[in-house]
Amino acid sequence: MPADSNGGYTNMESPYNNSAYSQSQWLEKQQSRSKRSRCIVVTALIGLVILVAAGVIVGVLLSRKHSSSSSSSSANGATTVGPSGVVNQTNPNDPSTFVRDARLKHSFYGLAYTPAGSQLPECGNSLDQVIEDIQLISQLTSRIRLYGADCNQSALVLEAIKQTKVNMTVFLGIYNVPTNATAYSEQRDKVIDAIQTYGTDHIAGVTVGNEFMLNYLDAYGGGTDTPNSAIGNQGAALLNSNITDMRNSLSNIGVSLQVGTSDAGSYFNNEVLANVDYGMANVHPWFANVSIDQAAAWTNEFFQTQDVQVAQALSNSPKMYIAETGWPTNSSDVGNESNGPSTASEPNLQTFLDTFVCQANQNGTDYFFFEFFDETWKLIQFGGVEGYWGLFYANKTLKDITIPDCEID
Ligand SMILES: *[C@@H]1O[C@H](CO)[C@@H](O)[C@H](O)[C@H]1NC(C)=O
Ligand SMILES: *[C@@H]1O[C@H](CO)[C@@H](O)[C@H](O)[C@H]1NC(C)=O
Ligand SMILES: *[C@@H]1O[C@H](CO)[C@@H](O)[C@H](O)[C@H]1NC(C)=O
Ligand SMILES: *[C@@H]1O[C@H](CO)[C@@H](O)[C@H](O)[C@H]1NC(C)=O
Ligand SMILES: *[C@@H]1O[C@H](CO)[C@@H](O)[C@H](O)[C@H]1NC(C)=O
Ligand SMILES: *[C@@H]1O[C@H](CO)[C@@H](O)[C@H](O)[C@H]1NC(C)=O
Ligand SMILES: *[C@@H]1O[C@H](CO)[C@@H](O)[C@H](O)[C@H]1NC(C)=O
Ligand SMILES: *[C@@H]1O[C@H](CO)[C@@H](O)[C@H](O)[C@H]1NC(C)=O
Ligand SMILES: *[C@@H]1O[C@H](CO)[C@@H](O)[C@H](O)[C@H]1NC(C)=O
Ligand SMILES: *[C@@H]1O[C@H](CO)[C@@H](O)[C@H](O)[C@H]1NC(C)=O
Repeated sequence: MPADSNGGYTNMESPYNNSAYSQSQWLEKQQSRSKRSRCIVVTALIGLVILVAAGVIVGVLLSRKHSSSSSSSSANGATTVGPSGVVNQTNPNDPSTFVRDARLKHSFYGLAYTPAGSQLPECGNSLDQVIEDIQLISQLTSRIRLYGADCNQSALVLEAIKQTKVNMTVFLGIYNVPTNATAYSEQRDKVIDAIQTYGTDHIAGVTVGNEFMLNYLDAYGGGTDTPNSAIGNQGAALLNSNITDMRNSLSNIGVSLQVGTSDAGSYFNNEVLANVDYGMANVHPWFANVSIDQAAAWTNEFFQTQDVQVAQALSNSPKMYIAETGWPTNSSDVGNESNGPSTASEPNLQTFLDTFVCQANQNGTDYFFFEFFDETWKLIQFGGVEGYWGLFYANKTLKDITIPDCEID
């Protein structure tokens, strides 16, 4: 299953789905994504200044909304608007009494979710905001995946599930990096803390690693993007040390939970897959320059050939999920408005929803749609389409889309 294998696409008709074309574009885009991440350090100072300014503005807006919403609480106790004015509750003190939005349908296997303000060093998330997110998300799905454990997000999400009393299962996440052992150990400790506080009833597993192998090969691969190579195995050994440590940490507190990893769809190393209960694969037709008309079928084909079949060939046969798939709706610059054949737009997100969601449910594909809402920090750090993948805008207003209606547990 080398990453440059094109075996999966030879039967497909579109030039975007054929031969090494989509593969190389996919890889190229993935690499440019990860190269940008090196710029994080450079842009961090600028970002910090902007974030502080944005935080002040948002804080002012929210506190205004909050005060106006508290006063809108009706005398007969009919409904009152929740913490940031998006979700109503019949009892302002009981988050489980939220009022459902008829436009939202429980049609998604899962959703990718990061609470706003969950990046170090600023943080800035809050239980009120996470409760409101969970009130909305629970109307769309019973499963979410988190990417990391910084800024107390594991506990906040589990507390929000408790208070909203919704049927929600979480894949907790640890965003470890090759160059900073503390990043792993701090997040591990937060995950263990959260499990000890909340128990495992609402936890499906712990995902160690987000694009760890992609980033490792980009930084140290010396031009190779093949995960099953000597250099790939060096990265795999680092990732595996954290995966094994997570298993031991869970077992030390007497807890049995699945441990997995997530990565770009063509970056799974066999030694890592042999060490996990599940793998989660990012499969992005947008970054592979696939046209919107082909996007849903391409996603299924890529996932089956690059991920499911690869995992099934291993003796432990780890379960595979699509970790991320979706379609962006906007770009911060004209240059990234199109992926070649198609544009980033709400009508195209609608097409992807209409052609992927119910069909994937029907096909039994376990996926996390990317993503709950637009992430402002990504817009600031990365630009392009990165901040525009949500079903909701950053302010939790539903985009101009119709959620497909095909109930799934
Ligand atoms: C919340 O309640 C207010 C006042 O009853 C109403 O105007 C508004 O549409 C409601 N919002 C939602 C999302 O239900
Ligand atoms: C983390 O969140 C939980 C749930 O809201 C809260 O009880 C706890 O105090 C928080 N911890 C920190 C360090 O903020
Ligand atoms: C976690 O992985 C990092 C490198 O990615 C390594 O430096 C560290 O020792 C590992 N920690 C544990 C406890 O496995
Ligand atoms: C390593 O990670 C920790 C925790 O995430 C962070 O506080 C620290 O600044 C990081 N160190 C470097 C050198 O990036
Ligand atoms: C569902 O399965 C059918 C039949 O294999 C396939 O043609 C289609 O592309 C799949 N769609 C999705 C979204 O998985
Ligand atoms: C789309 O992106 C442009 C450029 O960043 C921005 O000005 C505009 O507000 C965005 N529109 C929406 C609906 O997010
Ligand atoms: C994919 O599309 C983008 C946007 O049009 C373009 O910049 C990029 O060069 C394309 N990739 C390849 C390999 O053609
Ligand atoms: C935006 O486009 C430029 C040039 O085509 C590219 O280098 C950059 O990676 C793109 N950014 C995003 C976020 O896609
Ligand atoms: C939410 O954000 C969108 C996109 O920026 C904007 O069009 C909309 O007016 C905002 N809604 C509210 C209620 O602020
Ligand atoms: C809760 O969600 C799970 C999926 O995570 C589903 O299997 C189960 O049937 C749901 N339970 C209820 C009571 O809806």
